[in-house]
Amino acid sequence: MNYNKKTVTDIPVSGKKVLLRCDFNVPQDKETGAITDDKRIVASLPTIRYLLEQKAAVIACSHLGKPKGTYKPELSLAPVARRLSELLGQEVLFARDVVGEDARTKAAALQPGQILLLENLRFEPGEEKNDPEFARALASLAEVYVSDAFGTVHRAHASTAGVAAYLPAVSGFLIQKELEIMGGALADPKRPLVAILGGSKVSSKIGVIDHLLDIADTIVIGGGMAYTFLKARGGSIGTSLLEEDRLDYCREMMEKAGAKGVELLLPVDTLCAGTFSADAQPELVDAMAIPDDRMGMDIGPKTVEKFTAAVRGAGTVIWNGPMGVFEFPAFAGGTRAVAQALADCGAVTIVGGGDSAAAVEQMGFADRMTHISTGGGASLEFLEGKELPGVACLLDK
Ligand code: 3PG
Repeated sequence: MNYNKKTVTDIPVSGKKVLLRCDFNVPQDKETGAITDDKRIVASLPTIRYLLEQKAAVIACSHLGKPKGTYKPELSLAPVARRLSELLGQEVLFARDVVGEDARTKAAALQPGQILLLENLRFEPGEEKNDPEFARALASLAEVYVSDAFGTVHRAHASTAGVAAYLPAVSGFLIQKELEIMGGALADPKRPLVAILGGSKVSSKIGVIDHLLDIADTIVIGGGMAYTFLKARGGSIGTSLLEEDRLDYCREMMEKAGAKGVELLLPVDTLCAGTFSADAQPELVDAMAIPDDRMGMDIGPKTVEKFTAAVRGAGTVIWNGPMGVFEFPAFAGGTRAVAQALADCGAVTIVGGGDSAAAVEQMGFADRMTHISTGGGASLEFLEGKELPGVACLLDK
């Protein structure tokens, strides 16, 4: 996969109408609709500001939630337009449709230095189907396409890929940064490359593990997924998370790691409890001998020492997935210790989106990481080495 793509500074945008695909898929309060985390809107500001300073007329677009091709008032992007306007300190015009009369009229009248946000792309059935007619209609609003929606580059939708057939297509600064840092870490990492994988399921990380087996020096496995590995090694894991149908995969993966000379680190001790609850009493046990009525909820102190030693010796660390049930304070210690080790280690540190990004932010380490990806599913597919439709469609440098 070629990560060397043209960016918004590689083509003329001044005085042009620019269609800007953002990822404004922000969490909202279920009762009030209020935006509960505006990080994704903030992340889009450098590209928007650059385009406005260059006197482009910016036609921004995004999806929000999964309305499945029909209008759903609770998934309107109107609140995002208001928040974006506050952050930019300038009016953000809003179109009540995507390629309908309101959007076409407002886009046609848009002046250099102005910004318009279209209504939720997924109100249109053609968006997720990557319908060429819908892509053409969207493209007809503008002269240049800029994609800055990293969280959505794994989707082959009309606004993330299809539209590039009709307009010159480049990346914004956010995608550029994700490609440079994550792409650089995968293609030419400062070694040793240590990958730390956690989270609950082996099945959701198989693609990542397979790809990392070819490029990492050390793979560290923690979190709920570690128990299936421990069982595959012959351990007793009590009532811990188990994916029975992945035991063979775990055995094969451990053999492959051995054959390829990749060091594989698994937990040696575990904090377990009798119930999955915030007030459960943690008990420290050997990771290979968890009592029948206990479930593993976090890594223990010997494991913390082993995992953080790997981090201290690393040139690059890629981390995806928490080490335990960090939402419960009694079982957050392993995840916190790993986050602290990344913050202190001096290596290139990359945190994949989703839960590990949330943990790093919640624990106050965010500004001490080299990079925290804005993509959830997108950063996983990136780490799998898959071709990402929203990147492949951009012009090569
Ligand atoms: C995300 O939140 O991960 C992206 O916005 C993609 O959303 P989707 O999974 O609904 O395509």
